Order: sequence, then C-alpha cells, then structure tokens
Amino acid sequence: MNFQRKKMLLMISCVLSLMVVERYSRNQGEELQLSEWFRPRRRPDVITTTDWLAPVIWEGTFNRRVLGKHYRNRNLTMGLAVFAISRIADQYLERFLESAKKHFMTGYRVVFYITVDDLDKMPDVDPGPLQTFQVFTLQEEIWWQDFDLLRMRNLGEHIVQHIQGEVDFLFSMATNQIFQSDVGVETLGASVAQLHAWWYFKSTKDFPYERRRRSAAYIPYGKGDFYYDSAFVGGTPQQVLNLIEEYLKGVLQDKQNGLNSSYENHLNKYFFLNKPTKLLSPEYNWDVTFYPPPQVQFVKVAQHPKRRPWP
Ligand SMILES: *[C@@H]1O[C@H](CO)[C@@H](O)[C@H](O)[C@H]1NC(C)=O
Ligand SMILES: *[C@@H]1O[C@H](CO)[C@@H](O)[C@H](O)[C@H]1NC(C)=O
Repeated sequence: MNFQRKKMLLMISCVLSLMVVERYSRNQGEELQLSEWFRPRRRPDVITTTDWLAPVIWEGTFNRRVLGKHYRNRNLTMGLAVFAISRIADQYLERFLESAKKHFMTGYRVVFYITVDDLDKMPDVDPGPLQTFQVFTLQEEIWWQDFDLLRMRNLGEHIVQHIQGEVDFLFSMATNQIFQSDVGVETLGASVAQLHAWWYFKSTKDFPYERRRRSAAYIPYGKGDFYYDSAFVGGTPQQVLNLIEEYLKGVLQDKQNGLNSSYENHLNKYFFLNKPTKLLSPEYNWDVTFYPPPQVQFVKVAQHPKRRPWP
C-alpha cells in the first residue's frame, strides 16, 4: 500500500469512529442543555442563577414539556427516603405518603424507602402503579440519640447496602411535609439543595450558621451563599452519600473537641464547600406558619409548622 492510500484509510477510519461515537452518545442520552429548558428571565423577582451558575428552580422557570421529553424514555428510577420514628410516624407519615404518591415524580418509577421504629406504625397506604415501598425498621435504641444523626447514618448505610444499585436519583425528606402539587424531573440533579423558606428572605450576615471556629461546621461572618434547609436534599445516591459521610466526619471531629452542631449547620457547611448543582426555591418546602410573600405564589411542598420531633 502506498503512503497516500494509507493516509486516506487512516482518515476514513477516524471519520467513521467519530460518527460512531456521535451516534453512541446520541442514543445513550446526551446531557440536556440548561438553555433548552430553563427560563430564568421569567422570574426577575427572585434569584434564579447562583454565582457558580447553578439554576434555582422556581415555578415558571422551567419547561415541563422539554424536560418530560428528555427524561421520559430513560427508564429512570427515583428514590425518596423518609425516616419516621415514634410520634412522627403517628402524626405525619400517612399524609406524607398519600401526598407523595400523588405528586412526587408521577409517571416515573419511584421507590419509597421508609424507616419506622415499629412496623405497626406503617399506615395503611398502598403504593401506586409505578411505585414500590421498601419498609425498614430501626434496630437501635433511639431515645438518647441525636435524631438527625440517627436518620442520616441510617440512610448512609442503606445507600451503601442497596440504594445505590436501585435508583438513579435519591431524595431525602422530613416526614412532616405535605406535597401540594407536582414535584417532578425539574428537581433532578447531581447534587440538589433546597433554599430555606425563612432565611431566603434574610441577610446573609444573620444566617444561623455555626459560628464557633473550632466546629467542623464553622462558616465565618461574611461568608456563605445561602441558608439551606435540611428537610429536603437530593442528588445521585453517591452525592447524597458524600454529604452524609462529611456530616458524620464533622460530628466526630466536633465530638473530639467537645462541641456539637446541628445537622443543618453541617449541611450548610457541606454545600458551602461543595456547591450544589441545582437549588430548589422555598416553594419546595414552605413553612405554612409564614404568610407567603409575593415571590412565593405556588407552594409545592408545605411543611407542618412543628419542625422538630422533640424540643
Ligand atoms: C428499566 O429499569 C428496570 C429497573 O431498573 C429494569 O428492571 C428494566 O429491565 C429496565 N428496562 C429497560 C428496557 O432497560
Ligand atoms: C448539644 O449538646 C447539648 C448537651 O448534650 C444538647 O442539649 C443539645 O441539644 C446539643 N445540640 C445539638 C445541636 O445537637
């Protein structure tokens, strides 16, 4: 073979392989571009894009049709984890599940991971057609422990043991929440944080971040982006696991220094260092004790006023 022909063959095979790669990526699900579905200018009254260019999802900013078209045929499975022990189960679990059944990722396969301390606490609710309930009981003595520590450690164990092989995206929510309308694929992202309903409208300097220098959750005055709510987080199982692992490390470090900080403070520190790729507006977790300001016209998830399981 002469040199020219060799060169020609090489060129052809390059072009061919490029075509194959392109077809492959087209079939395997190319990333949806933000500009295809996100319309930040529709909501000039609120923050719709962060400094690090992550979208903040408010009603009106996203195109449901484009998102649906992109995600519908991907055979995705979503996970939603709730942890309902003792009084929380009695008070909130049934309403949480009934509303989530109706409004969480409708049209997609969903696995609900429900942890209760007693199987009798499981309300008489059946999963919908594309939904499954996986119910777990807690084996441990719960009374003396920090509730959030128990909850997140438990979720971390389940992610490692099975959840990471079962779902594409995972959300963890507090049980005292009630879905009011659809929460769908607009919320999907690698790492999803939710803006705290109350603190969104306040100044950064007043945020109740951990201010003790020796704590792992410490954020200095003048620093910080937003105050995130710990009642609603999500992402890929791996990203949720990262958050949990950093939180557990932080708790351990604080303990060694004779300190303790809240889960929410650790979560805020985590998202300060590891910026979330998508933010959900306060509409996704509105505390009904606050009269909604004009920016919050469309409450998707309402939070029962009593936030803490025991004061
Ligand atoms: C879709 O996902 C489910 C669960 O992960 C799996 O059992 C099923 O085989 C998948 N179907 C296709 C067509 O890939
Ligand atoms: C910190 O520890 C004290 C004393 O053990 C406890 O009362 C308090 O609830 C703890 N705070 C947090 C945020 O865990």
